[in-house]
Parts: sequence; C-alpha cells; structure tokens
Amino acid sequence: MLIAPYIEPFNPPRRVLMGPGPSDVYPEVLAAQAKPTIGHLDPLFVGMMDELKSLIQYAFQTKNEMTLAVSAPGSAGMETCFVNLVEPGEKVIVCRNGVFGERMRQNVERCGGVAVMVDNEWGKAVDVDTVANALAENPDAKFLAFVHAETSTGALSDAKALCALAKQHGCISIVDAVTSLGGVELRVDEWGIDAIYSGSQKCLSCVPGLSPVSFSPKAVEKMKARKTPVQSWFLDQTLVMGYWTGESGGKRSYHHTAPVNALYALHESLRLLSLEGLEHAWQRHADMHQVLRHGLQRLGLKFVVAEADRLPQLNAVYIPEGIDDAKVRKQLLENYNLEIGAGLGALAGKAWRIGLMGYAARRENVALCIKALDEVLVQPA
Ligand SMILES: Cc1ncc(COP(=O)(O)O)c(C=O)c1O
Repeated sequence: MLIAPYIEPFNPPRRVLMGPGPSDVYPEVLAAQAKPTIGHLDPLFVGMMDELKSLIQYAFQTKNEMTLAVSAPGSAGMETCFVNLVEPGEKVIVCRNGVFGERMRQNVERCGGVAVMVDNEWGKAVDVDTVANALAENPDAKFLAFVHAETSTGALSDAKALCALAKQHGCISIVDAVTSLGGVELRVDEWGIDAIYSGSQKCLSCVPGLSPVSFSPKAVEKMKARKTPVQSWFLDQTLVMGYWTGESGGKRSYHHTAPVNALYALHESLRLLSLEGLEHAWQRHADMHQVLRHGLQRLGLKFVVAEADRLPQLNAVYIPEGIDDAKVRKQLLENYNLEIGAGLGALAGKAWRIGLMGYAARRENVALCIKALDEVLVQPA
C-alpha cells in the first residue's frame, strides 16, 4: 500500500493577472464560489440557472433560446459549435489569422468536414474581401467560421461584416468570442451570429472552466436536421438542453453533474457585468487600453497590431532587442506578483501579450505594469 504523503494546503499568492487569461477574478466571484454546494437539480439551483441563462443572453445581446454555459473551458465551447453543426463532407470556410483559427480547422476536420482556409497575416484582422471571394468561389460552403478576437496576436476582426457576408451566401456563422465577450462590442442578434462560444476566464473575470455558448434558431434547425448523430455524447446540445431548460420546457432531466459552485461564480460575474452595463464595460476596456498604450510607448515598446485592428484587452508588443523574454517575465512574477503572457505560435519568444481583461482593466493595474516593466527593462538582472 502506498503511504499517504504529507502535503501542506495549497496557498497560492495573490497575483495580478495581466496575461492572455485567466484574468484577475472579481473578489465577489471568488466569494460566490465558496458558498454552500447544493444539488444540481435543487429547485433553488434550477432558479439560479434560469437567471444565469438570461445573464448570458444579456452578455451576448441575444434572445436565442439555446443559450447556456458548457461545463468545460472555451475549447469545449469551440468543439460544441463544430460537433453539433458540421456533418461529414460539409464545407466550412475557416479564417486563420492566429492560433485559434488553426484550431477551428482541426475541429472541422475531426468532424469529417472539409475546411477551406482563408489565411491572413498574423497580427492583422481577417480580411473581409478575401472572405467574400472565398464564399463566392465555394457556393457549396455551409459555414463561415472565424475568431472575433485573436488572443494569440491581439487582432480584432469585423464580426458584423463577416456575419453579414455569411448570411448573404446562405452560410451559418460560427464565431469565437472567447476573448471578445465583455471587452469589445458584440451583438449576436443584431449582427446575425448563428453559433458563438466564449470563455469564463477572460473579460468576464470569472474562474476558468466554463464556456457560454449560444445558437440562433437557424443553427438549431441545422442541428435538428442532422443525418448523423453528434459524435460527442457530452457536448450534444439536444441532450444538454434537457438539463438546462427541460425537454420541451418540461421537467429537467439529469445529463451530467453541473459544476455547481463554478456556475455560482459565473452567475456573479455576469451579474456584476449587468450592473456595470455592457457598453460601460466596453468603454472601460478601451479607456484602460489608451492609458496602457501611452505607458508602453513611453517605454519604447512597439505594438504587433496596427491601431485600427487592435484589441483593447490584449496588447501584444514586440520584445526589445537583447532582452531575455523568460527572465523578464520571471522577474515580473517574482518581484511584482505580476503575470504577463508570453508570445504564442509564430510570436513565441518575439512578443509579450499584456491583458487588460475584465476586473484587470483598472488604472492601478496599468500603473503597476508600466512601473514594473520600466524597472525591469531599465535594470535587467
Ligand atoms: C480565442 C480563443 N479561443 C479559444 C480558446 C480556448 O479556450 P480555453 O483555454 O478556455 O479552453 C482561447 C484561450 O485562450 C482563446 O483565446
């Protein structure tokens, strides 16, 4: 028999999280998560889920009935959209301008779909004209998939224009809003987005591990008309909806044990967002980005993304010549309790990614980040 190891309780330090996510969690959200666990079919919990659904609808600006939080992180939200919608042999136009567009391709192919790639340079928004050409050249395409806010580079794409194009060509739009939700303008119904997923750990400033998703009536119709069963039992939305709303609005049935306390946390973070007001939150991110931008430029740091395409909540800057990437990030973490992100994919070792997401998008965080970078870059250890 193995002897039980003696291990101390885990006591993480209080860091300031200014990377690509997870972002700083609201203290109220952490407190909400520590409330007593109740049964996931307890009538009080079911009432909380109804509120949660209406809060997710508010955050997405949608009246979509099929709106819920997948019990897993953003990657599962991505997979939920693809496995429920794409059937073998179906063509999907996939826009790739960073790491997450490439993941969409992998999802399409694992569903047996055919991905037609529209490549854009890293650090640039998806080019709407190139997408229009791809749609025209592929009249049999059934979907258009793109990342609204590309976290690997900090580029923001024009979701409104891309979804209008999808509609014009009779395609269902699949949108990654993991980093955009709560941080920049996003209007699901007005822009005609059909399938969308996000993550709890970015601009919602909730604990990681949940993925809000929403499907338009057109997307739901497509799911219902499937000729083949969804290959993932866990992510099959028609089964999950039996738990979130009950079958045909009737009694809720057990599907999986919901992450009860994590859902309290999401309820609280979205409640805080609704109290602040979406438009106010978008403006706060834009304002804090401007303060950070001035500070970073004063330090001589250069942005990866041109101003017109730049996300306020994810600031990718080139690492200055002769500076040791890992050493700087280590110093920030150890001496200032400050986390910033490393570059990802093609930008690994070349850029830092500084997040201003949700609760982290505050003046004191910006001031700390600029001061710490100034000290570390001026006096490298
Ligand atoms: C744009 C984008 N899509 C998808 C994901 C995957 O989300 P998660 O890490 O929560 O699984 C991320 C995570 O950073 C992301 O930034």
